[in-house]
Amino acid sequence: MASSNFVEHRGFLMPSKYYDINTFEYICNEFQVRDQDVFNITYPKSGTTWMQEILTLIQSDGDTTISHTVPNWERVPWLELPLFVKKLESQHSPRFLASHLPVHLFPKSFFTSKAKAIYTVRNPRDVLVSLHYFSKAAGFLDELDNIEELLPKFLKGEVFGGSWFEHVRGWLGVRDQVNLLILTYEELLQDLRGSVMRICNFLGRELNEAAIDSVVENTTLKSMKDNKMSNHSTVNKEIIDVQKSPFIRKGISGDWRNHFTPAMIESFDATYKEAIKDINFKFIWDQ
Ligand code: A3P
Repeated sequence: MASSNFVEHRGFLMPSKYYDINTFEYICNEFQVRDQDVFNITYPKSGTTWMQEILTLIQSDGDTTISHTVPNWERVPWLELPLFVKKLESQHSPRFLASHLPVHLFPKSFFTSKAKAIYTVRNPRDVLVSLHYFSKAAGFLDELDNIEELLPKFLKGEVFGGSWFEHVRGWLGVRDQVNLLILTYEELLQDLRGSVMRICNFLGRELNEAAIDSVVENTTLKSMKDNKMSNHSTVNKEIIDVQKSPFIRKGISGDWRNHFTPAMIESFDATYKEAIKDINFKFIWDQ
């Protein structure tokens, strides 16, 4: 059974302390997406905050005034968070929005709009490790502290964000129908500059060399660890306590190798291979 700390809606699980079904329904059926909107969509722990920082800096032509003075959740607010809905609706365009929603709960108006979305996907093994550490810091994830106990829950989709497999299958499945740029966390790591340029190109933004340099410099792991407006150190400790585990943590690919036992690898691989069979996408970590 999924933790009672979650609200479950059509397979999607989020902390019940901050999310509710009425808002999920409202966002799906009533929320009006605008053509100028840009969405930063992820399954949790896949690089959401990183993309918030990249989008902020691209929008400001590499100027750090906003990224150093306004918290990331205000610069690129959560679409499905009840607290933000009214504010979002009155916000001027262009709006930059973050979302963990699976495709079947995303605003219907998105699919008839010209809005753009970036979907960042990460090796689910590293997502699991990242979630394990995040659960130490997040007051609302207290039942997910043991990584071996977390694995079966993750494979069944009984964790923060629901099923990784359903999330990824859903979003990759619509990639030819909407304005969607698919990126991987691993590509961002391998070639941050090239990825920033791809994002600029997708958004139709022309940045000069100096501006691109600044976006890259200010979105490295080190810069973001040092930026109080992104490292979550200003969040109320009852919600996220970065003293217990830093939010901007290790920031690498393959950390799962330091945490998975042979039994965990076997169990993960058996489910993974079966579950991704029908996903027509070659993941960078499988190559
Ligand atoms: P780790 O816990 O593996 O280090 P999200 O923002 O979706 O919650 O994802 C958090 C993960 O992204 C964490 O992974 C965090 O360290 C990583 N991350 C954030 N900014 C990063 C950056 N600039 N470079 C590399 N990884 C980054």
